[in-house]
Order: sequence, then C-alpha cells, then structure tokens
Amino acid sequence: MKPKLVISTGAGMSAESGIATFRDAGGLWDQYPVMDVASADGFARNPALVHQFYNKRRHELVAARPNKGHLGLVDLERDYDVYIITQNVDNLHERAGSSHVLHLHGELMKVRALDNPDLIYELTPDNLDTTPDTTIDGHRVRPHIVFFQEAVPNIEPAIELVEQADIFVVIGTSLNVYPAAGLLQYVRPGVPVYYIDPRPAPVPPRVHLIRTGAGEGVGQLKNLLSESRGQQNI
Ligand code: APR
Repeated sequence: MKPKLVISTGAGMSAESGIATFRDAGGLWDQYPVMDVASADGFARNPALVHQFYNKRRHELVAARPNKGHLGLVDLERDYDVYIITQNVDNLHERAGSSHVLHLHGELMKVRALDNPDLIYELTPDNLDTTPDTTIDGHRVRPHIVFFQEAVPNIEPAIELVEQADIFVVIGTSLNVYPAAGLLQYVRPGVPVYYIDPRPAPVPPRVHLIRTGAGEGVGQLKNLLSESRGQQNI
C-alpha cells in the first residue's frame, strides 16, 4: 500500500507553462475586472463578455504544455498514491499524465447546458469558441467554471482526500480564495505539509516552505520525500 500524497495546486502550478496567474503583477485580475468576467452577476449582466474571456483562455491553453512541475507530480505516482486537488481550470495535470485530478473551480475545456447542469460537453482544439447563442444538442451552453458567487460542489470530496492524506503538499496558490484555501485545516496532526511557492502566503509554522517555482520546487520535494522515506526504512 503506497502512502497517500495529496497535492493542492493553484495558478502558480501553470505559470511556467506560460499561463498567467491571477494576483501576480500583470496577472489576469490586473487585466480584467474579475466581477465582470468571472462572477455569476457578471455572466447574467453580459454573457458575451464572459464567453469571450474563456474563449481567449482556451486558445492560450491549447498552445501551452505541461511543465517540469506537472511532470514531476506524475513521477511521484511511482512511490505514492497521488491525488491532485486543483483550483486551476486548465487541463495540464491531465495532459501531463496525472491519474487523479479533482477540479474545484471547473474545467476550461468543458461547457455545460444552461437548462441542465448535468449535461457537460468537452470542447476540442478545433472548436474552442462559444457565444451566448452556441447550442450543443439543442442546449444553450455556459463555461463549466465555478464563477465567484457560486457554490464549489467538489469541496466535500476534496476535504475527504485531505483528511486521508499521509503527506499534504500545496503548490502555487496565494491562499486567497475559500473554501480551497481552507483545506490546510483538514490535515491530520503529525502529517507532514509542504508549500512550494516563490512568494508564499503566511502559513502556520508546521508547514515546510520550499520558496521556489513549481518546476524546481517539485524536484526539491521529491528529494525531501525520498530522504524521509529512506530514514523511515532504517
Ligand atoms: N511556481 C509556483 N508558484 C508560483 C509561480 C511559479 N512559477 N509563479 C507564481 N506563483 C505563485 C504566486 O506566488 C502566488 O502565490 O502562485 C500563486 C498565484 O496566486 P493567485 O494568482 O492568487 O492564484 P490562485 O491562488 O490559484 O487563485 C485562486 O482565485 O480568481 C480565483 O478561481 C480563481 O482559482 C483561482 C483562485
């Protein structure tokens, strides 16, 4: 039985793939008014603007590639049962080959029927753009994204994963947005916690900080984990 390694990732995980984060200088929320393009009220007010915002991000995503950090997390599946909980809506963890990926804020390459949220459709690289008039199987669609002001349906399974973790890792998130930012509180006492981020948010002293980017940081994490595994084997 491999130890359960649960990893919570944010926008910083995809920064080295050339995908903008939200709150770094020049990030998405410097470029766009967040409540106009990523909130339920904004979508109700001007759905065309919201569709355009996600169309643009889809084009950027299909041009991007998983980075060394994504691939390093796949390598860890050799020695650990790896479960990824991501705030990211990109599909770079899946494209890197990660086996278990749970999206908290939705998925950029998917849209869903406005009249039935259970009808979810995957867009393809040759068919990325939607408008308020786009229909699939006769249904008008919206981005399959959790907008601000909307519930985060996957938070319960995410909490369960964190409660079962033997090791918990946070990568590339400013820990600004709840409930995702609150996952740390569900880690059992005594379970090691690592946080990979070049400019980490304040965290409790129990957290082992790796102050660097995801690509380099996942490499350091792998070394730290193999050292601690080696000690346990003694
Ligand atoms: N490697 C790792 N981390 C990085 C890198 C990098 N190369 N570059 C930047 N970071 C870190 C930043 O230091 C910051 O802590 O990534 C984090 C990005 O923070 P945010 O832009 O706030 O992104 P995130 O925490 O994922 O935002 C959470 O907010 O707007 C909503 O729904 C959106 O899911 C998003 C949520």
